[in-house]
Amino acid sequence: MARAEDEVLTPPLDVEAVRAEFPILSRTVHGKPLVYLDSAASAQRPRCVIDATSRFYSEYNANVHRGVHQLSVEASEAFERSRQLVRDGLNASSEREIVFTRGATEAINLVAQAWARPRLRPGDEIIVSTMEHHSNIVPWQLVCEQTGAVLKPAPINDRGELRVDELEALITDRTKLIGLVHVSNALGTVNPVERVCAMARERGIVTVIDGCQALPHTAVDVRAIGCDFYAFSAHKMYGPTGIGALYGRESLLEAMPPWQGGGEMILRVSFEGTTYNELPHKFEAGTPNIAGAIGMGAAFEFLDRIGIDAIAAHEQDLLTYATERMQAIDGLRILGTAEHKGPVISFVVDGAHANDIGTIVDHFGVALRTGHHCAMPVMQFFDVPATARVSFGCYTTRAEIDTFLDALNHARTMLA
Ligand code: ALA
Repeated sequence: MARAEDEVLTPPLDVEAVRAEFPILSRTVHGKPLVYLDSAASAQRPRCVIDATSRFYSEYNANVHRGVHQLSVEASEAFERSRQLVRDGLNASSEREIVFTRGATEAINLVAQAWARPRLRPGDEIIVSTMEHHSNIVPWQLVCEQTGAVLKPAPINDRGELRVDELEALITDRTKLIGLVHVSNALGTVNPVERVCAMARERGIVTVIDGCQALPHTAVDVRAIGCDFYAFSAHKMYGPTGIGALYGRESLLEAMPPWQGGGEMILRVSFEGTTYNELPHKFEAGTPNIAGAIGMGAAFEFLDRIGIDAIAAHEQDLLTYATERMQAIDGLRILGTAEHKGPVISFVVDGAHANDIGTIVDHFGVALRTGHHCAMPVMQFFDVPATARVSFGCYTTRAEIDTFLDALNHARTMLA
């Protein structure tokens, strides 16, 4: 087919070069090469992320924003540079909109306690989808208990897609907030977050998007999405554990009280009263995870260098390849067959418990996740206790999918 002159082709991902950046991928498990198909639970780290955190500890370890000495200046600069990298990675308007947190869970709890709790009244409503991770359900249940507000689940269809029309029908003039996962960790579904945010914005409803499974796989632009809050964890996107961030629209963050008190979040403290620091420090009480934040910045640089479009194309190829081959297996059912999916395949096999499958394939070096994936309402909807789940990253290959399918075959034979 003729190409338009201005069409930009994404160069294919050099997956072997990418793999060479991940030291852990050369290890063996039970004497077999590691086949890591659990990136949705936690991705592996490239050398650049490991080195960035290690350099902090070995070359300029000091507390941030507190010292006039050289090490503290260097640490503060690196820490704040990471904030700029996060801002750029999300296309936020300003660093004031980027609050460092322990991860997506803490980010969502921050919104629940500092935005929702002071505002919600008995009878007010929060809507979340049925496919949410527990971290975008339980914080709202807590805030509902605290305020008398009501949590309403928006349904999904048999393919694991959000029923947007039904979500819209749930909205009333008491609806104050909608929480929605960008890409489902349990099903892979990519949700129409722009459409839902536009629907909410027209009605003055605040939106919270859980972006954990989106950032490693697709370009994210919080302004194009039009959300009020966007939460993510770095460890799903090749960064360290224990760090993530909350993007918040500046006007909303400005109007919110701090949710934790301590050092760093204040301007002046006396027993007569305390004044709070500027954004985003108002929400960052205590010494932060400095090495983690620096590693998270390195993860954004890594994604930028490899190219998110090339990663997305590579992962979509793997998703299609694995889905077609798995659909051909007798007695195997894939849960989550949405039209738009991230590189996640949840499945059940007749007569075999997911945990047994996971244990057997582990002996072939294959790491996959089994269980409810912190999304029990999804399991309830599909009426299964658990699924097995393979999830892919930028380093996954077709050959690894073949190894997994061979191991799965062994498991099916053993469990039959
Ligand atoms: N939420 C993570 C997962 O999907 C832990 O596995």
